[in-house]
Amino acid sequence: MPGIAVSKCVLVVGATAGIGRALALAIWALPSKPTVIVAGRRKERLEELVKKGLDDGDGRIKALQVDLTAARDSLKAFTEHTLREYPDVRKACLIFVFVRSHTYMHSQLDSVVFSAGIQHITDFSKPEEIDLDGKQPPPDSLLFFFPYNVSSSYPDFTSEVNINYIAIVTLITFFLPHFLKLSTEGRPTFIIPISSMLAIVPSGTLSDYCAMKAALHSLSLSLHSNLASTNVHIMEILPPLVESELHDNQGTSEALSKIWMPLDTYTKYAMEGLLRGDVNIVTPNHEWLWEKFEKDKIGETPMSLHRKHSSYSSV
Ligand SMILES: NC(=O)c1ccc[n+]([C@@H]2O[C@H](COP(=O)([O-])OP(=O)(O)OC[C@H]3O[C@@H](n4cnc5c(N)ncnc54)[C@H](OP(=O)(O)O)[C@@H]3O)[C@@H](O)[C@H]2O)c1
Repeated sequence: MPGIAVSKCVLVVGATAGIGRALALAIWALPSKPTVIVAGRRKERLEELVKKGLDDGDGRIKALQVDLTAARDSLKAFTEHTLREYPDVRKACLIFVFVRSHTYMHSQLDSVVFSAGIQHITDFSKPEEIDLDGKQPPPDSLLFFFPYNVSSSYPDFTSEVNINYIAIVTLITFFLPHFLKLSTEGRPTFIIPISSMLAIVPSGTLSDYCAMKAALHSLSLSLHSNLASTNVHIMEILPPLVESELHDNQGTSEALSKIWMPLDTYTKYAMEGLLRGDVNIVTPNHEWLWEKFEKDKIGETPMSLHRKHSSYSSV
């Protein structure tokens, strides 16, 4: 399978911090010089990345502000805006004068990394403390393209489901027609969800987070199988505990910093997997977990299970 080095334009959703930011910069630094579009809510962090691209390079870092808790229409608008904003310059020049409105169909975007995520403790031994509803989000019209105060994140069950799973499925669905079109033109494209090793072995007090990561892992396997005959490739990244801002809202970052993997070490492993084109990217120290619980799943299909079952019943 081809790897990220063949990509010309990569969107990283959740690039303002942690793993997404580090991967965006590592991809930007590849000798293949792809354009990197960084996305997230915090405008000043996005601007800092764009400035870095201008100061250290040739301006190949672009930014788009997005909030994944926005309604489906806004996520659709975000997808269309991304494709329109970053056309394949060569093709666009040829057709621009004639069919401007179709320029987006020739967007150079060929990869999306889904790094945005949130994590909250859900302790079912204290069910009265579980916030199913959370605060009301600001009006949808404010959630896309416009800066707003992000100190009001929504620490509830529903946001965790939306950001960690539903928004990702929604965006994949919206980006796929473009990716499938590039695929028919012989161009490889990549969908890169970031799930977690907690998708494989869940934690007791992160039940909602782990359930959504397990869903994302399952979706990645299904997409890989579903799109096997196309040039759309899935590379699922399954990080272990890694240095980032993910746990800041729980007040556990300091304690976890004693055991987490440093971000630069992790980025190196993740990039090795992306460059190889691995379908599932697991760090070497967690390969034993993958071998124990997941390895045998890969390659099994409902048809092969059906065949095995039929052969039992025919004995
Ligand atoms: N670090 C770990 O130990 C670990 C382990 C396994 C898996 N992961 C996964 O790795 C991914 C990256 O996490 P991280 O550890 O790097 O966390 P992080 O440092 O907290 O970064 C999270 C990113 O998600 C973005 N984000 C959060 N809510 C968003 C929203 N509503 N709309 C748009 N963007 C949003 C944030 O940007 P804004 O706040 O600017 O919007 C930020 O860029 C996540 O999917 C996480 O679940 C992390």
